[in-house]
Amino acid sequence: MYNLNELEAIVQRCNRCPLSKTRTNAVFGEGSNENIIMFIGEGPGYHEDKQGRPFVGKAGMLFDKMLAAINLTRADVYITNIVKCRPPNNRNPLTEESEKCIDFLRWQVKIVDPDIIICLGAVAAKNIIQEDFKITQNRGIWYKRGKFNIMATYHPAALLRDSNKKRDAWEDFKSIKDMYIKLSQKSMK
Ligand code: URA
Repeated sequence: MYNLNELEAIVQRCNRCPLSKTRTNAVFGEGSNENIIMFIGEGPGYHEDKQGRPFVGKAGMLFDKMLAAINLTRADVYITNIVKCRPPNNRNPLTEESEKCIDFLRWQVKIVDPDIIICLGAVAAKNIIQEDFKITQNRGIWYKRGKFNIMATYHPAALLRDSNKKRDAWEDFKSIKDMYIKLSQKSMK
C-alpha cells in the first residue's frame, strides 16, 4: 500500500482528466495519518491552485475560524477535496472528473483511516453519502458506514454567501466536536 507521500507524487503527475491541463498545482490534501477526523471539500479554487494547498483562500480562513471555535487546528485534521485539480472558474466538478479522481480519495481514506468524515458542502456529500443528498435537509445528520461516522455541513463558501446559514453550521460544528471528543477518548484506551 502507498503512503501519503507516494500517493501525492502520483496525484501530482495525474492526467486522467482534462482538469490536469489547466491546473497550476494539483492539491492533494494536508494532514497526517494520525488524525482521526477528515474534512472533504469540493475542489481547489484560485488560491489553492496557485499554492498547491487546500482551503487557503477566503473560505479556508473561515474554515480555520470554525475549527478554532471547536478547539481544533489544521494540525488536528486531515483535509482534502473530491477533485484534486481546480475546475475552471470554480465551477462544480463534472461527474466524469469526480469519478476519475475519487480513487485517490479512497486511497487517502484507506491510509489515514479516520473515524470521522465531514463533507463540506453538497458536492462532497453527494459523492460520499448519497447521490441525491440535500444539504439543507440532511446536514448535521450522522451516517454510520462501516467504521466511519460521516456528516455533511455547509461549505464555508456557502456561509460567506449567506450568513443566515451560520447558525446551523455552528450546531453542526458543536456536534462534530462532541463526536471528536467521544472518539478521541476511545482511541486513547
Ligand atoms: N473550496 C474547496 O472546496 N476546497 C478548497 O480547497 C478550497 C475551496
